[in-house]
Amino acid sequence: MPEKPKLLITRRLRDAVQARAARDYHVVTNDDDHVFTRAELIEKCGQVDAVLPCHSEHFSADVIAELPKSLKIIANHSVGVDHVDLTAAKEAGIVVTNTPDVLSDATAEIAMLCMLGASRRGAEGDAMVRAGKWDFWSPAFMVGRQVTGKRFGVLGMGRVGQVAAERARGFGMEVHYHNRKPLPDHLAKGAIFHETIEDLFAHSDVLSLHCPSTPETKGIINSKTIAMLPDRAILVNTARGNLVDEDALVSALESGKLFAAGLDVFCNEPGGNQRISALNNVFLLPHIGSATEETRDAMGFRALDNLDAYFQGKEPGDRVA
Ligand code: DGY
Repeated sequence: MPEKPKLLITRRLRDAVQARAARDYHVVTNDDDHVFTRAELIEKCGQVDAVLPCHSEHFSADVIAELPKSLKIIANHSVGVDHVDLTAAKEAGIVVTNTPDVLSDATAEIAMLCMLGASRRGAEGDAMVRAGKWDFWSPAFMVGRQVTGKRFGVLGMGRVGQVAAERARGFGMEVHYHNRKPLPDHLAKGAIFHETIEDLFAHSDVLSLHCPSTPETKGIINSKTIAMLPDRAILVNTARGNLVDEDALVSALESGKLFAAGLDVFCNEPGGNQRISALNNVFLLPHIGSATEETRDAMGFRALDNLDAYFQGKEPGDRVA
């Protein structure tokens, strides 16, 4: 029987995932689930052959430069891999994997929650009732914007974007999108392709972000691009906080250029942005796009599948570097 590989699991995962990991690996766990410091991350990685991190662990080029040669694979528990410098990992000979597909439904659900929460003033209404301040009703009270019949713009029509588009169709919305290339018809399902973001933004009553965070997409929502949206549009972000210039977003929400925003992600996480939180016309969540029992199990198992493949000498299915 060959020795089980040593695996660092950086955060507390679901019981079934932990149990399977413990069956097949010598597992180093993080029992109080704290976020490792940089030094701790490097030191713990020195004890193992593989690491299963979340987006809370940052494998920047300088961290990767300090990792020992014994660390062979970073099997992420996330679809996003912007917390890992893929070029540096590749140069260091470290395999990197992610967990696509399994979180598309859960994240698309949260995009719908953000869209409806923003358009129908969900946070404002909830806060009012909870605070015992609901002392008035009239036909003019708490009037929001209906999404039925409006245009749902998808920036990044990948796996999550496609499911979000499907859900938006369920609300009678017309789907528009921008990608590098148009999708084949069976995936586009009638969604209207726009070659430029200018064109997409001009056709988006609701703009939902589903692209990865890369040097090209960082700050893609800024004062210039917000100006391209129809007046009183709604912004939904369930992808990554740094796609949005949050100062420009605050200005647009304050001026009424944007009717509202529904955000699950922020530049500063955990924590968010107090200027955004101070506004009424926002619906805010703490990065819980994939946080369902089913999806968190599936993400953990998918990360373990990638590790199993690697240690069995096969190509991991979700290799990104
Ligand atoms: C992802 O998978 O990228 C989610 O944001 C959770 O990390």
